[in-house]
Formats: sequence, structure tokens, C-alpha cells
Amino acid sequence: MADVVTMEKIVSLCKRRGFVFPSSEIYGGVGSTYDYGHYGVLLKTNVKNEWWRAMLQERDDVVALDSAIIQHPKVWEASGHLAGFTDPLVDCRTCKLRFRADHIGESACGRRPSLHPGEHEECDLTEARDFNLMFETTVGPVKEEGATVYLRPETAQGIFVNFKNVLQFSRKKPPFGIAQIGKSFRNEITPGNFVFRTREFEQMEMEFFVPPAEAPRWFEHWLAERERWYVELGIRPDHLRLRAHEADELSHYSSGTSDVEYLFPIGWSELEGIANRGDFDLSAHAAHAREKLEYVDTASGERYVPYVIEPAAGADRATLAFLVDAYDEEEVEGETRTLLRLHPRLAPVKVAVLPLVKKDGQPEVAQEVYADLRRRMQAEYDEGGSIGKRYRRQDEIGTPWSVTVDHQTLEDRTVTVRDRDSLAQDRVAIDALGDELERRLRAPWSSPKLSRDA
Ligand code: GAP
Repeated sequence: MADVVTMEKIVSLCKRRGFVFPSSEIYGGVGSTYDYGHYGVLLKTNVKNEWWRAMLQERDDVVALDSAIIQHPKVWEASGHLAGFTDPLVDCRTCKLRFRADHIGESACGRRPSLHPGEHEECDLTEARDFNLMFETTVGPVKEEGATVYLRPETAQGIFVNFKNVLQFSRKKPPFGIAQIGKSFRNEITPGNFVFRTREFEQMEMEFFVPPAEAPRWFEHWLAERERWYVELGIRPDHLRLRAHEADELSHYSSGTSDVEYLFPIGWSELEGIANRGDFDLSAHAAHAREKLEYVDTASGERYVPYVIEPAAGADRATLAFLVDAYDEEEVEGETRTLLRLHPRLAPVKVAVLPLVKKDGQPEVAQEVYADLRRRMQAEYDEGGSIGKRYRRQDEIGTPWSVTVDHQTLEDRTVTVRDRDSLAQDRVAIDALGDELERRLRAPWSSPKLSRDA
């Protein structure tokens, strides 16, 4: 069965249900910048928490870091970003649009009918020139006298420049990792496809420091581990793949990179990159800062510069993939039901408590149930509108369970639990409800779209 999801449907649901809005909308928006609303914040926070859980809670060889966005300019000299973090840019002198020279084949010219840049007679493209993607700003009160600094284009360098600090204080030795989540900034020439490529985004990066001889083994380990993470959180395995970079695609620091790709409505695209960065970064910072950045085994006296395996993911891009994979429509009693089949652990709201009617003591009991549940998980109370309308709203934000308080509740203190995916309704005693929902939340889950696709 064909997947009904399109990027337009995702953008529209995100706006309608308060997940993501275009930024500065009342002023007409700024290109490719977005603000997250209530449910978007809850969803992206759950994605990030699941990443932290996989990095920190489920292992004991990774520690956390939160480094600054503005760092010493020399960081970017050493990392190679100042010289080499560029995209080839071409301008059209006629329509004044700008394109990435290496994406001309996928770009649309500003004229009608829409052709690729350079294909219209009037097109007048410049030669490609390198355009650095780092945003510049000035530190100090007077612009002219201040120092030029950059908004970080990746979180990774904050980890490398703290290698010595962490080694001293964490009581770790290779193999071990340092993980960080935070905002990064890139002045992309052609951002687009909603939150897939923006100029301001959040990364989830982990630098795993290993003895050089162990690098190939750990590279394979992290490929498998990162693919497993997406599948465990409900992404359909047939919509995920690993793709090794060709030699001419490799970044300046990488001796091997594979991307985890997802089958977005725009086609297979990168979700996350896993790179073998060798000793490039530690050696570069050691040379520029004149510091020894190496591991010394105090027992054996052995010293070496560790190699680095880096799984680098995007929180916004992962959130988009989870939304796309979850989006579904089905016919129920002659009407189209739109829903997000999100993994319950990712769902912004786990349970909605709904009195069937706004009278007969039902709201009071529902409030009591809600007060208990909200101590355990993200819950929502809703008594406005018809029950059908309230179910539809919860379906669209991906709430896995809706608890309805009805006239029977007042007689036997049981409620119905409606399952978002199967639409099954079970009667559960109020006293057992919290434990039952916690059990369901912990249970393995896979997308019902999977069995239907098969
Ligand atoms: N430290 C390595 C690094 O930054 P990258 O492949 O450039 O590698 C890692 O970025 C991840 O960050 C990407 O796989 C993607 O998920 C996310 N990302 C990169 N640029 C992005 C952008 N402009 N908008 C949204 N996410 C982006």
C-alpha cells in the first residue's frame, strides 16, 4: 500500500496542531527558520532524551558535555572550517537568485516555465566561488575594534577542545566518548524542505575516542548501534539504510563515513553521519594550541593520540523523520482519520483524560484520574467539544491512549482506554490505570504501518 505522507501534509499538520511554525511569521517570516510550538517542543525533547538515554543511561563509557556556541576563533582555524567549510556558490546576474553549483541539477530557476538554472536564454550565471557557511559576529562593544568570532557550525569542536579537561575529571580512558546536544548554525545557500535543512538547528553528536588499532571495529559498532536506535524508536527498517560515502564525498577530516539515510518524501536523504575522523582534530588542536592532547597510560607509560569515531545526528531532522514515518490516514466509518503513529515513548502526550459529557459528576472524576496520571507521565485533560472531535485531535498529535470517563465509571470506578493504533477500547479499573499505562509505555512497539506495508 502506498504511503500517503507528503511533506505538504506534514507541514500543514505541524502548523494546525502547534508543532512547528514559520519563524517571525507576523513579519512575513525569515527564510527557512522555524519555531517549535508546545507539541513540537515535547516531541523534540523526547527525541533528545532518547538519545541521551542511549548514550548515557544505557552505557557507562560516554560522558556528557555542554560547550559554548561562541568559541575562540582559532578553534575554527585548527578545525579547518575557516579555510574549508565552504559550498560553491553561483549567482544569476539576471534574476539575482543564488544556487549551489553542485546542486544545479536539483535547483529551480526563478523563471517560468521552471527550468534548471542556466537553461533559460536569459540566465546569466557567474562562475562558482567558494562561500563560507559560518555566521560571523563580533565580540566586544565596538564593532570595529571587536574580535570577529563565529557561531559554531558543529558541536563537535567544543568536545575536542575539552578533551583534556574531560580526560582529567571523568576518570575515563579510551575507548570512551563525550556526547553533546546543542544548536549549530550554517549559512546554507539553499536551505529547505521544512526543518530538514535550516540555518539554525540542533545537533546530537558524540565523539568516541579509541586506541587507533580499534577504530575500524568501533566504526562498525556505532553504525549498527545508531541504526538500531532509530528502529527501536519505531522507524520502519525498510525506510532506513546505511550508505558509505564515495571517496570524493568525504569531509576533509574523514577517512571513512557512512550515512544513516531515511526514505523521506523527497527521497533517500541523510539522517545522520558516522565518521572515522582518525586523529585529525586532536592533532590539529594540539598543534594550534601548543598543548599535548593525547592519552598516557600511567601504568604502562604508553602514549598515543586517540582516533575518533563520530556519530553525528540532527535533532530536527530526526524529529522530522519520526513525524514522516508516523503520519497515517485511514478510513473509519466513512471518514478519514489522520493520525501520528508515534512510538509511545516519543509521543508528546502519553494519555488524554476525557469525560464523555461535561456533567453528571464525570468532569470531577476525570480530574481526579488526570491528577494521578500527570504525576507519572505527560497527560492532558480535555472536556471541550464532542468526544469524536476530541479523539481526532489526540490522534493528530499522536497520543497513544485516551481514557474516557463515562456513566459506568461512576458506578464501578472503571474507565475505557482507547488505543490510538488499533482503536481497541478496554475497561480498566481506575486503581490499576497508572500501572497499566506505565507497563504499556515500557513495552516494545513497532509501527502498524509495517505489517500493512508487507
Ligand atoms: N560533526 C560532523 C557534522 O556536523 P554533518 O553531516 O555536517 O556532520 C551532522 O551534520 C547532522 O546534523 C546531519 O546528519 C543532519 O542530521 C544535521 N544537520 C546538518 N546540517 C543541517 C541543517 N542545515 N539543518 C538541519 N540539520 C542539519
